[in-house]
Amino acid sequence: MKYLLGYDLGSSSVKVALLDIETGKTVATATAPDQEMGMMAHQAGWAEQHPSDWWREAINATQKLKKQFSFDPAQVAAIGISYQMHGLVVVDKNLQPLRPSIIWCDSRAVAIGNQAFIDLGEDYCLQHLLNSPGNFTASKLKWVKDNEPEIYAQIYKIMLPGDYLALQMSGVPQTTVSGLSEGIFWDFAEQKIAQKLLDYYGLDASVIPDIVPTFGYQAALTAAAAAELGLAAGTPIAYRAGDQPNNAFSLNVLNPGELATTAGTSGVVYGINAQPHFDAQSRVNSFVHVNHTAAQPRNGVLLCVNGTGILNSWLRKLAGGLSYDAMNQQAAETPIGADGLTFLPFGNGAERVLSNRLVGAHLQGLKLNNHGSGEVFRAAQEGIVCALEYGLRVMRQMGVQTQTVRAGRANLFLSPLFREAFANVTGANIELYDTDGAQGAARAAGIGAAIYDFKSAFNGLTRLTVIEPEAHLQAQYGEVYERWETYLGQSLLNHTNLKTIVNANK
Ligand code: XUL
Repeated sequence: MKYLLGYDLGSSSVKVALLDIETGKTVATATAPDQEMGMMAHQAGWAEQHPSDWWREAINATQKLKKQFSFDPAQVAAIGISYQMHGLVVVDKNLQPLRPSIIWCDSRAVAIGNQAFIDLGEDYCLQHLLNSPGNFTASKLKWVKDNEPEIYAQIYKIMLPGDYLALQMSGVPQTTVSGLSEGIFWDFAEQKIAQKLLDYYGLDASVIPDIVPTFGYQAALTAAAAAELGLAAGTPIAYRAGDQPNNAFSLNVLNPGELATTAGTSGVVYGINAQPHFDAQSRVNSFVHVNHTAAQPRNGVLLCVNGTGILNSWLRKLAGGLSYDAMNQQAAETPIGADGLTFLPFGNGAERVLSNRLVGAHLQGLKLNNHGSGEVFRAAQEGIVCALEYGLRVMRQMGVQTQTVRAGRANLFLSPLFREAFANVTGANIELYDTDGAQGAARAAGIGAAIYDFKSAFNGLTRLTVIEPEAHLQAQYGEVYERWETYLGQSLLNHTNLKTIVNANK
């Protein structure tokens, strides 16, 4: 056995990486589709994708990989899967999806989750679930029950997007404890499925598939799936995790004091707690981390900004498909502060860090005779960093140390300006590594297949560079943050907090 295969099912593409077990280095990667995958938004704030598209793109990516690099499929020791979190996939008795997936950034269940937070009691929710049920998978399932009863009645099993990918590969519906926690189906205090929440929503526990360990043998590729993918039947699936815990794993972020960040479609900062901490307003969320055990608890504290890379890709489309490098170059040629332009990047659904308000993206201070694309591109990148700093302030209040943050050299971290702004707005050292989610999932499959342990899995992980804050830049970026936060404060006055609406209706 020579290789490990890692999949990363994102919101814009499926990426696959082939890792050489001996060197711990990626030998080939491929991504599909070529253009970013879209999201269907039949109503404002909704976002859906077809699970069948994910499977098709997983096949396309694997076929591309095989064209690029020739390997014997029998030499793949194990498969690992990373996936976009919090989505809801519902399948019938024949394991066929009953409707498109309601994905992570779909906001339709916000009011349902807010009402549950009140009815179940904040104490119960925070002590047991570590979160408000919010806009997560369980609340989305309740939405289906209330609004599409004919579909709900046919549900055999529910799952997260990565569980669906594994189902297509193996024919077996399964999930993990970490996955259940990201759907708010997990009671941290009792270490079991949150029956009280299921009862409150009127959901039947039988729809939850069998639970398998995050690392370890889960299931094997069927002959039919192997034929479609061009892999070997019987290849074990040995790991699956949400893309954010997986990103943390990829960066060897497993213990308290270690922090990971990512800036793909969404932007996340993810720290580790050994105690079950929560933010009373659920602006940042705690989920079960990949290496959690009852004997050594490990929870991930996750700050998410939905509108990160998706804002950059939206601007790129407007700019006629300019390359990201060219956009970064134009942005870097404009002064810090983008000549007074302020971007709020909250255009991709309800933002948890803003108590699930649907604020929308804002561009403020535009002077048509002065500003061009460079200022707009810079303001977008600075605005994203400011939104992350806004959430980091909540994390710091929870006692999370934020001096050093690790990131893969991918997505927005490819932009030197973004890296500079991140280091100087947050005051953190940024360590950049040569890794990504697909590579991480492949490494993790090595642990699941008992080829690696938690130390040897990272032998091939290379730190590329460290970006440190500099006093003179911190002063300038500090002013950018103050202006951004002032504008956010003014804008929030125009947006009623949904929780207040629910309270007022009681
Ligand atoms: C994390 C989150 C997003 C998705 C993106 O809580 O909702 O980062 O995981 O795929």
